[in-house]
Amino acid sequence: MTQQQPESFTKFLAQADIAAKAIKEVTDKDGFVSCFSHLDADGVAAAGVISKMLNRLGARYRIRVMQWVDEKIIAEVTADKPNLVIMSDFGSGYLDLLNEKIPNYKIVILDHHQITGKQDNPNFTMLNPHVYGIDGATEVSGSGVAYFAARAVDPANIDCAPIALIGALGDMQDKYEGRSLKGLNELIVNDAVSAGLLKVEKDLTFFGRETRPIHRMLATTTNPFIPGVSGQETEALNFVTNLGFPLKNGDKLRSLCDLNQEERKKLCTALADYLLSKGLHTTVDNLIGNVYVLVKEEPNTALRDGREFSVLLNSTGRMDRPSLGIAICMGDRKAALGDANKLLEDYRKSINKYLSWVAEKPERLREFENIYVIYGENAINEKIIGTVSSILVSTLSNNLKPLLAFANIEAEKAAKFSGRTTEAALQKGVNLGDVMLIASEANAGKGGGHNIAAGAQVPLDKVEAFIKMADELVGRQLKGEKLAGKNPS
Ligand code: C5P
Ligand code: C5P
Ligand code: ZN
Repeated sequence: MTQQQPESFTKFLAQADIAAKAIKEVTDKDGFVSCFSHLDADGVAAAGVISKMLNRLGARYRIRVMQWVDEKIIAEVTADKPNLVIMSDFGSGYLDLLNEKIPNYKIVILDHHQITGKQDNPNFTMLNPHVYGIDGATEVSGSGVAYFAARAVDPANIDCAPIALIGALGDMQDKYEGRSLKGLNELIVNDAVSAGLLKVEKDLTFFGRETRPIHRMLATTTNPFIPGVSGQETEALNFVTNLGFPLKNGDKLRSLCDLNQEERKKLCTALADYLLSKGLHTTVDNLIGNVYVLVKEEPNTALRDGREFSVLLNSTGRMDRPSLGIAICMGDRKAALGDANKLLEDYRKSINKYLSWVAEKPERLREFENIYVIYGENAINEKIIGTVSSILVSTLSNNLKPLLAFANIEAEKAAKFSGRTTEAALQKGVNLGDVMLIASEANAGKGGGHNIAAGAQVPLDKVEAFIKMADELVGRQLKGEKLAGKNPS
């Protein structure tokens, strides 16, 4: 991989050294560090990496996990007067705000979002792949960026490599052939493997390989989707029963990870035959892919499989318990893990409730000329709206139309929008980061993000105007126009 983009990687890693120096300068003098991170799986993983790094340095610090960069963070910084602020998995989109409100604070930004605003403040040190032409949406996540800084601070932080990958999986960066991680993520995979913490296997990529009974794993899969089996537990049970191997080990239902080679092959062949009989060749090609196994974790727990781990972390952030997620990233396998598993159950129930709610009435999911909009209003929690948008975007009949889902935040008289789109729409020129930025700023709000996934907050009385403008902007992008956003990339 380094052969493909040697210069951009070298430059990025040199900047990681500079970020590490900025951190150590403060901690060497026993300065106080105030950290802020994003509340999704990637942000919580980044917070875990940073906590471990600062613990190793014996630093005094505090970490808070937030949904976005806004005045609340500014107020906390000016109240705490830290010697250093670290922002992870967000910050690059808010350089103007930081320059305006807290230009004299030392700030280290460890982020992978598109960059907006002036980059010339000598007090700010930013490590961001976009600066070097590396795609932050697919080649490294916020926790990965935090990892490169942590590794530059102390090589012992190589033990954070698996956590850095959990963030990348949470941000759905495994979009390369066979669901693999590439780019800077591949360097992290190599570190994790050489430290004896990770094994990359080729296997069926269904979600739940460690924790879900096989038939339930097949019944709950959306990627790959198996018509006639997915969503139908009885059919799924019949399907695996017909394979003729034991489904239980004692009292316990077996999971995919419990199958031996021969049993696994049987399952795989049966699925391929079934899909071929339905003419679904491409789904057959997508059955097998990279599986990221955290070899030091107990089998049959969500922490052993990278994708399951990322969903667990996401739930801690989105259900207001990010400190649980951070504790797990730092190695807590007792109280925190038990609590997180319970939280995950509640999180799943909430998501299912919201998905059914959307499906109940047509006016809850409306189709416009160039976009779809979910009117979550007061029915969907604003911290979970992003997950709802991520799940539903792949179920829409026109995959060139992005999905914008919103929920009201009554206390702030604002709506939180989460936009998601598809690879096909990106190919046609859609960039949701630009759309959210331009449409929100024109409507007294704030927004930004990646080309494929972006968000915004706008005042409630501007919701319709914002939707109208986003619809128009996407239309222009689909016609080939590159919008004059503030993003340099
Ligand atoms: O702030 P952050 O980058 O961590 O958030 C990215 C969000 O966007 C994730 O929650 C993920 O669901 C979504 N995403 C996506 N496809 C990508 C990258 C991100 O759906 N390629
Ligand atoms: O909140 P949500 O998951 O929809 O965010 C999608 C992506 O857009 C995330 O990477 C998030 O950090 C980014 N975002 C942003 N500015 C906002 C809202 C979201 O950069 N105001
Ligand atoms: Zn991220």
